[in-house]
Amino acid sequence: MTAPKVYVETYGCQMNVADSELIVGLLGREGYIPVQSPEGADVILVNTCAVRDHAERRVMGRVGELKRYKGPGGVLGVVGCMAQRLGLGLLERASHVDLVVGPDGYRGLPELIAAARSGDRRADTEFKSWEHYEDVDAARPQGGPSAFVTVQRGCDYRCTFCVVPMTRGPERIRKLDDVLREVERLAADGVSEITLLGQTVNSYHDGQHHFGHLLRAVGAVPGVRRLRFTSPHPNDFSEAVVAAMAEVPAVCEHVHLPVQSGSSRVLKRMLRRYTREQYLACVARLREAIPGLALTTDIIVGSPGETEQDFQETESLVREVGFDDAYTFRYSPRDGTPALKIPDQVPDGLAGERLERLIRTVREVSRGRNLALVGSTHEVLVEKPARRGGLLQTRTRTNKVALVRGPAPWIGTYLRVRLTGTTGATFTATPVTALKELAIVG
Ligand code: F3S
Repeated sequence: MTAPKVYVETYGCQMNVADSELIVGLLGREGYIPVQSPEGADVILVNTCAVRDHAERRVMGRVGELKRYKGPGGVLGVVGCMAQRLGLGLLERASHVDLVVGPDGYRGLPELIAAARSGDRRADTEFKSWEHYEDVDAARPQGGPSAFVTVQRGCDYRCTFCVVPMTRGPERIRKLDDVLREVERLAADGVSEITLLGQTVNSYHDGQHHFGHLLRAVGAVPGVRRLRFTSPHPNDFSEAVVAAMAEVPAVCEHVHLPVQSGSSRVLKRMLRRYTREQYLACVARLREAIPGLALTTDIIVGSPGETEQDFQETESLVREVGFDDAYTFRYSPRDGTPALKIPDQVPDGLAGERLERLIRTVREVSRGRNLALVGSTHEVLVEKPARRGGLLQTRTRTNKVALVRGPAPWIGTYLRVRLTGTTGATFTATPVTALKELAIVG
């Protein structure tokens, strides 16, 4: 008998990427082999995001497309945040979908797949506050230098626009020792860059250890050369956390620090629990402790009640902070979120126009910062072949992407490069290390 094949297609954030690796690991225990194309797969799973309506619709369209790959006895499942949000309703709406599983139900996948094969279509959207998948080995891409490690699942913050507490349930924290065991295994396999994941990752506390302890412990694992984390909340940068960031050599000089708006009035409506001034103070503390820090952010425009004045405050915050980059989004109303009840919803057209203005501002600011870096030298990790012929994609500690000409065996190694030019977003670079010293691993 040939081994069954599973194809997983992933949308959404890094947490979903990590979850897809968990799913493949879990099904691997049952003899499944992962494949890179839906063609010929016995099980097709789409791991979904629920943050924006537009993305949800696109994924539903994609699920409709994927049904043509479903052979006799084949199973098509929707998992992840949209699956959690829509639950049974999704099975009713789409007769070609055989199973629906939220982020806490992946352990039951083998059983649900077997049920689906005998025509029993089921949904599992129960929150399991104990679920960490601690005993499951995630199936990460072989030989890669980087790995995501989830340290916190769910979210206890209640930002009024956000669907995540409804899709991922209450916060739960992995024990530091468990995280450490996983990182040690990864480092032994040659992984040198670790990204710790959590919805508000720096609020990590396992009852005994806070996030600063976690950074120090992970950063001390032999072989871990780079340590990143995402996404932090501005309110959870305690002195101990900032000190660990500054003192642990592996912690990279980049923080993705979601701000969402530059207007204190809007931030209050969003229940972000900080003002513009407090956010700026957080930025100043981080910059003082970590020289050369790069900052990126998430911003929502057109959230309920946002006036032109509020929007201009967001633009001015982008300039004042000087973000290296920003993910910008138009507010997307989500069922069940408190923001729906806030009066003065911003018309779509106006929100779209503000988004375009903001994108221009972000590009201008980030281009200015990047131009100033041309000529400087950086350590880069060579990640993979670039899309442009013959070049390799590398990344600085500050999370800038630089394209370098070089041979494939450099992938997974560290180089020193000089940035030679920028398109505004990415860089070109040339190695400055003597050729014989180029392949420095770990
Ligand atoms: Fe991530 Fe989207 Fe879920 S951003 S947590 S996959 S709603």
